[in-house]
Amino acid sequence: MRPSLSSRQIGVLLLVLMPGFLGSVRAQGDNLMPQPAKVVHAQGRLEISGSFRVALEGYEEPRLRAAGERIVERLARQTAIPMNSTLETDPAKAALVIRCDHAGGLVQSVREDESYTLEVTSRQARLEAATPVGILRGMETFLQLVTLDAQGFAVPAVNIEDKPRFPWRGFMIDVSRRWIPAPVIKRNLDGMAAVKLNVLHWHLSDDQGFRVESRRFPKLHEMGSDGHYYTQEEIRDVIAYARERGIRVVPEFDMPGHATSWFVGYPEIASLPGPYTVDRTLGIRDPAMDPTREEVYTFLDAFIGEMTQLFPDEYFHIGGDEVRAKHWSESPRIQEFMRQHGMKDHRDLQAYFNQRLLVILQKYGRKMVGWDEILHPELPKDIVVQSWRGQQSLAEAARRGYMGILSWGYYLDLMQPASFHYGVDPLGGGAARLSEAEKARILGGEACIWTENVDMENIDAADWPLTAAIAERLWSPAQVQDVDSMYRRLAMVSRQLEWMGLTQRISPRLMLERLAGDSDPAVLKRLDEVLAPLNCDVRRRVHHYTSLTPLNRLVDATPPESDAAREFALLVGHWQANKLKIRQQLSRWKRAGAEVAPLLQRSALLQEDLPLAENVSAVAEAGLEALDYLEHAEAAPDAWVAKQTALLDRASQPQAELWIMIVPSVRELLKAAEAGK
Ligand code: ACM
Repeated sequence: MRPSLSSRQIGVLLLVLMPGFLGSVRAQGDNLMPQPAKVVHAQGRLEISGSFRVALEGYEEPRLRAAGERIVERLARQTAIPMNSTLETDPAKAALVIRCDHAGGLVQSVREDESYTLEVTSRQARLEAATPVGILRGMETFLQLVTLDAQGFAVPAVNIEDKPRFPWRGFMIDVSRRWIPAPVIKRNLDGMAAVKLNVLHWHLSDDQGFRVESRRFPKLHEMGSDGHYYTQEEIRDVIAYARERGIRVVPEFDMPGHATSWFVGYPEIASLPGPYTVDRTLGIRDPAMDPTREEVYTFLDAFIGEMTQLFPDEYFHIGGDEVRAKHWSESPRIQEFMRQHGMKDHRDLQAYFNQRLLVILQKYGRKMVGWDEILHPELPKDIVVQSWRGQQSLAEAARRGYMGILSWGYYLDLMQPASFHYGVDPLGGGAARLSEAEKARILGGEACIWTENVDMENIDAADWPLTAAIAERLWSPAQVQDVDSMYRRLAMVSRQLEWMGLTQRISPRLMLERLAGDSDPAVLKRLDEVLAPLNCDVRRRVHHYTSLTPLNRLVDATPPESDAAREFALLVGHWQANKLKIRQQLSRWKRAGAEVAPLLQRSALLQEDLPLAENVSAVAEAGLEALDYLEHAEAAPDAWVAKQTALLDRASQPQAELWIMIVPSVRELLKAAEAGK
């Protein structure tokens, strides 16, 4: 199970309590996300025109030449000014000179130097870095600096010195629960590069699907995938695409649990005889590999041998999470093995399995990464532990000498607001009390998207722009904390991401159009803008899902965070100054709730949302009445307060897996009205 984080309401509360949330002064001219380590603004602007050209100096390689051309192509896209992307050979004639010092790792490593400097004057921009990856990071900064002013497109004169706070800044995509094809992965790699993330953690196998072609064991993908898997050629292509963008690719093959899809073709590696079918139900399943059988290690040796040919990264993720003891307990032969080896419980057996796996990984020159359940004193200190069950487990791993990355707090499927993720720091919580040497073992973190309730259509909307807030937490200095500034820049980044092909803004619109059928989706949008989905754990408890359930309801089209509700909360926080705006918004939502009802009735997929429409209207009406009392500086009568409180309590219960996100703000208005001020 995923960790049960605080409820959405608590998330909103945290956001409001967060220091700097209100009234912060934003730094001049910073549209950058993540914010660089050091920015010094200067006088002047470098004009971006159709004659913009890039020249390379110093060390050169195809990746740098491609990057030089790509930056011009992206600039042309951003500005709609036709440009020639051929590299300029004379640096004196180039608008941007890129100077790289030397080659990076043949395979990018966690130790890669990603630092860069960027100096922009009104005459020229110079981007310098030790390695190509540093150049790639600086290139994204340059593109984010482009703005339109009264004279045209330009980059402001600036001096930037930048380097990451953490070396491991990842994004995990689960492609097993739902099939996510390679082009979607590629556009997410573009998004990752744009915000300086550097590890794609590819969750390639689970109970619901095995997603990689194996030539050695073809029944893995042939029988375990419903035909949805990446060919080895596609995998190589994605890895090359990632490398071009300075991104490592760490494959995860989840073992020994979460592995039913392996057993469809190869029941002999499972603990019980089977037969097995691809498991389309969700949640934690019982099947597990049999750690007591030598043939299992022979199989895994050959399999990992094949996969390490395909995936060059020095780290290999073995999963290791949520292993159920049930099938191990039901197998007399496994029980006998445990007795003979003096193993007291299934954790000991899993540790034994991991040690055997470790030997195989070492044979192929790989280091182990696993979810925090793998932590065991028998494992060597160069493994990396990925904490998903809390910050304490990360601190504990570091204290015991292990390297770790944080994913607790970065689970995007939990539908928390960006401010929540932004407030989670790998060196916060239990880690804050570590010594400097222990802190140095914390390599960074990874945003994670599990796809029980996410598919190829809405994955971008679940991930972006949220992931950019996490990327900033992992790249920028720890003191970059201003939530207001983060949201402002998040909106800018979101627009840029769509220029790169991501679909987080367009896909919810298309989904609303599908839901609305022949009706105008604009009115549906006005309802939807105040809604937000339940987190995926809760959704699974209130509705039956399998990995084949169509994700075509309103909840699936609704982005994780309601910008409208967040902005409304800001207005209500200063209601005395914003009465008119609050009234306009509430009137609009009151009307929307009424206007959308006939549309909801006409659509089989939307009928379940009728109570939401009624509640949104009623909540808005309650807010308007509260405002009336406030405008007359009159304390609202007790009976009215009691009635409206009951209404808000009802409306704060989810319907059709959606929350109404303006309820807490209207409750604040109610409280003020009750007090008469
Ligand atoms: C996990 O969420 N089971 C790693």
